[in-house]
Amino acid sequence: MTGSGSPRVIAIDGPAGSGKSTVARAVADRLGLQYLDTGAMYRGVAHAVLREGIDPTDAVMVSEVARNVTLDVTRSHCMVDGEDASAAIRGPEVTGAVSAVAANPEVRGEMVARQRAWVVERGGGVMEGRDIGSVVFPDAELKVYLTASPEVRARRRAAEAPGVDVDSVAADIRRRDEADSSRAASPLVTADGARVLDTSDLTVDGVVDAIVGMLR
Ligand code: DC
Repeated sequence: MTGSGSPRVIAIDGPAGSGKSTVARAVADRLGLQYLDTGAMYRGVAHAVLREGIDPTDAVMVSEVARNVTLDVTRSHCMVDGEDASAAIRGPEVTGAVSAVAANPEVRGEMVARQRAWVVERGGGVMEGRDIGSVVFPDAELKVYLTASPEVRARRRAAEAPGVDVDSVAADIRRRDEADSSRAASPLVTADGARVLDTSDLTVDGVVDAIVGMLR
């Protein structure tokens, strides 16, 4: 959104392992804005779904969970109905279920409404996800689409999860890319007007400099 008085929104989208989270946090710090990881919201819903023993592909039950769940996603934590689920939402069960949950149009409608409300309450922010520039804030002041080669993305994700081998991370990334890009509801796309940045050969600081430079 541009113009005086409008919330200042920076949208950072891209596939898993493109560097979104690290970069979006650093951009928020540089600009003195708040940061929201919208993927953690979808993961929080998936966690609540699994906790209640619901099949993640049961659209009706999953939508009901999404409408009723209390999510509190901060920079470092994800609280789901008052329970600290920060570690659980990064685990293999949630990672395996989240694509099905995120493909549910009613879940998306609910999360998008909460994301817009988050921005209004804070007067702006840096938001990362898959559909921020395309659906949630198409009029964002800046829309960035981060990419990186599949090998680099798998290596980054494996480095975050010691003990997990790169090949299985690469297979998981391929599966989620396919699911996120081919779903009917808000698939992962490069938003109109988004600046595409390949982070494969850039340092975090290099990516942050490039993004902040786009604002000038
Ligand atoms: O960024 P992540 O890997 O934590 O995202 C988890 C899942 O949620 C992933 O399958 C994509 C989905 N997601 C989405 O559909 N829309 C968003 N705005 C953010 C994440």
